[in-house]
Amino acid sequence: MILLDGKKTSLLVQETIAKEVNILKKKGYRVPHLAAILVGDNGASMTYVNNKVTACQKVGFTSSVLEMPKNISQEELLKQIHRLNEDDSVDGFIVQLPLPKHIHEQEILLAINPDKDADGFHPTNFGRMALGLKSFIPATPYGILELLNQYHIPTDGKDVVIIGRSDIVGRPISILLSQKPWNATVTLTHSHTQNLSELTKKADIIIAALGIPKFLKADMVKEGAAIIDVGITRIADTTTKKGFRIVGDVDFEYVKEKVSYITPVPGGVGPMTIAMLMKNTLNAYKRKYKIQ
Ligand code: GUN
Repeated sequence: MILLDGKKTSLLVQETIAKEVNILKKKGYRVPHLAAILVGDNGASMTYVNNKVTACQKVGFTSSVLEMPKNISQEELLKQIHRLNEDDSVDGFIVQLPLPKHIHEQEILLAINPDKDADGFHPTNFGRMALGLKSFIPATPYGILELLNQYHIPTDGKDVVIIGRSDIVGRPISILLSQKPWNATVTLTHSHTQNLSELTKKADIIIAALGIPKFLKADMVKEGAAIIDVGITRIADTTTKKGFRIVGDVDFEYVKEKVSYITPVPGGVGPMTIAMLMKNTLNAYKRKYKIQ
């Protein structure tokens, strides 16, 4: 069994980006700038945004975080987005999800200038991605593709089963893997899928992205399959310093004995998401200044 090391792979991606940033600096250009809007005090969201800021520092980007109160109005949040759309010093920005219930998420994402949409969540980018046109690819699906690529895991003609149809992971990765050059036969499953095990047991690659800890059991997978675990649920654990631990959607200890490749949680897909957000930001910058 080979562990798909997202930490190591994300560092490789970040080193390449850092080299490009150094070249830009030597040429006298300003460095790329990623901004993040963080609404409220959700612990996980705060951690993710902090990790994104740290990654910006590592690759040499400027970053800024706009912290908004959880009772912010829709209008005020839209105003902040328009401000970032118009700020020429910001190359890309994200709105950390989830947003409070009173906020209309789709309207917020629709307000982001697609050229600055580093998360690739705007319908223009999603539509372009679905058509195989140049676009920002959502960072988690992009990170999964990069992991598969770095470990030379073949997808052409392979059976891929994805568990979970979210807008930011399951659905986009299902579209991407079915396209050229990946050419996989993709089954997108969800909570209404019948006989899920029958499907997963035939899969060469399983992507678990449903958010239920240890959902994918050893008896649901084929010997030699590749397993990508997107789950990152916080489980209370008083034996840890933080008071919780992160658990994936895969029953790792048992599944790992049966498969060829598997991502750990933490240290698998999570770091890749952040690295690919950096890549999208650099791409936004390069497109803006028409740099190849
Ligand atoms: N919440 C969970 N994943 C993501 C992500 O990739 N981007 C944003 N903006 N919010 C998220």
